[in-house]
Amino acid sequence: MGLKRIILLPLLSLTLLHVASSKDWRRNVLFIIADDLRTSLGCYGDSVVKSPNIDQLASHSHVFLNAFAQQAVCAPSRTSLLTSRRPDTTRLYDFGSYWRNHSGNYSTLPQYFKNQGFYTRSIGKVFHPGIASNHSDDFPYSWSVPAYHPASFSFEKKKVCPGADGQLHANLLCAVDVSEQPMKTLPDIESTDEEFLSLYPLEHMTLAPDPDVPKQLPLVAYNPWTDVRKREDVQRLNLSFPFGPVPKHFQLKIRQHYFAAVSFLDSQVGRLLSALEQLGLDQNTTVVFTSDHGWSLGEHGEWAKYSNFDVSTRVPLMFYVPGVTDRTRTGTKTRTGARFEFIDVFGPTQSFTNGQESQSLVELLDVFPTLAHLSGLKVPQPCPEVSFRVELCREGQNRANDFIHRETKVDKEQIAFSQYPRPSDTPQENSDLPDLRDIRIMGYSSEPGITDSVCGSDSTPELFR
Ligand SMILES: *[C@@H]1O[C@H](CO)[C@@H](O)[C@H](O)[C@H]1NC(C)=O
Ligand SMILES: *[C@@H]1O[C@H](CO)[C@@H](O)[C@H](O)[C@H]1NC(C)=O
Ligand SMILES: *[C@@H]1O[C@H](CO)[C@@H](O)[C@H](O)[C@H]1NC(C)=O
Ligand SMILES: *[C@@H]1O[C@H](CO)[C@@H](O)[C@H](O)[C@H]1NC(C)=O
Ligand SMILES: *[C@@H]1O[C@H](CO)[C@@H](O)[C@H](O)[C@H]1NC(C)=O
Repeated sequence: MGLKRIILLPLLSLTLLHVASSKDWRRNVLFIIADDLRTSLGCYGDSVVKSPNIDQLASHSHVFLNAFAQQAVCAPSRTSLLTSRRPDTTRLYDFGSYWRNHSGNYSTLPQYFKNQGFYTRSIGKVFHPGIASNHSDDFPYSWSVPAYHPASFSFEKKKVCPGADGQLHANLLCAVDVSEQPMKTLPDIESTDEEFLSLYPLEHMTLAPDPDVPKQLPLVAYNPWTDVRKREDVQRLNLSFPFGPVPKHFQLKIRQHYFAAVSFLDSQVGRLLSALEQLGLDQNTTVVFTSDHGWSLGEHGEWAKYSNFDVSTRVPLMFYVPGVTDRTRTGTKTRTGARFEFIDVFGPTQSFTNGQESQSLVELLDVFPTLAHLSGLKVPQPCPEVSFRVELCREGQNRANDFIHRETKVDKEQIAFSQYPRPSDTPQENSDLPDLRDIRIMGYSSEPGITDSVCGSDSTPELFR
């Protein structure tokens, strides 16, 4: 939950779904879910961020350019994705409940695969840890073995950021030297240091295109980024609640640190995929890459997640399916070089073209049925209107046809929904993350039709009381 120190921010988590029987023709699945990662990636048209390893994956993948999370905060989004049920079905809009106890005994994506003969394993944060997954990451239902968490994760919220005073602080800007970290490592594997910041010289950083809170903004739509405010370095800025604003020099630094964190994450993805290749598993493993939600970096005066704005709800989503999305390989036996080569983010710039892409609006709910289809499993039935007692069904759609029959026209009927609850129609201390019992208002945002540019424009939140 909440904000990680920003240099560490997009945490990488993996799910390995391994076909138990080697005679089986089915592919393995490597499901990579980043934390708090917006579409600031080369393969989504970002020209500042260096993400060559993820871009390389995209060059062999089907990339959904308009994919949206159902609620821009970790536990509700992950529970929704992994059960293919909307937050309005689970009704778990906070971090304080386990769906099997408080909503319905819903089957999950990994549970479904496990029941179909896959060996399933969770590494890092897949389900939101803690109460939201019964303090067990939903083991044993979803996983063949207990979930693995890197030991250094216990320092997530600790004072580990070196300050100018030589002391350690719980800062927002937290460029760390690994050798000085507790256990001399980091959850994301554990190696990074200030050098990632050097990829983004401060003088090259720009503010968000719309850095001010719009005058017409309905106050209920605004998230006052309380988590960010609690950081020691931010507290020293003596910002006024709820609008700030964050001083411009500090805005540039936040953006710099976020982009550095993305490049760090990218390097970890590169290490992982090159290992997959070296093990000879790249030709029989489907790889999914996505994130639980996006992140505001000063757009309309907001930071962090906790809202229905485009920057908070839009996520990367791509599927690599060997022999299907990998056009350079299809139909040939010869290989021109490695498919997943580790690319040094500090090296010369490499650019890639996405393997396949579609503009269609898709929801994270769609991942479960799509991955089931791609893995040769029966796609669960659509959920009935009331589904609390239905263990296995899906509210998302199977998007696998987009890969198999290359999309020729955009489906203009598609809509993607996101929602966010508030305790009040004006920003309060608990507006970002209200407890279930404090929720009074639900805001919805729909993305109807197709946005013109890759960056898109922010959707207008609609309010329902
Ligand atoms: C919930 O589902 C699991 C696995 O599908 C099953 O083992 C368990 O008995 C169910 N629990 C209840 C209370 O129905
Ligand atoms: C949740 O965890 C408790 C305690 O470890 C365990 O007894 C229970 O079976 C788990 N699962 C469910 C569905 O409650
Ligand atoms: C869920 O219910 C089980 C059985 O009553 C209990 O052991 C477990 O602690 C509960 N888990 C949560 C997270 O509420
Ligand atoms: C912080 O801001 C408040 C009001 O904006 C002001 O009264 C106070 O003196 C400031 N404190 C510091 C340490 O700058
Ligand atoms: C995938 O390929 C590797 C290497 O060729 C092989 O060892 C493994 O059994 C294959 N797995 C499946 C599920 O086919």
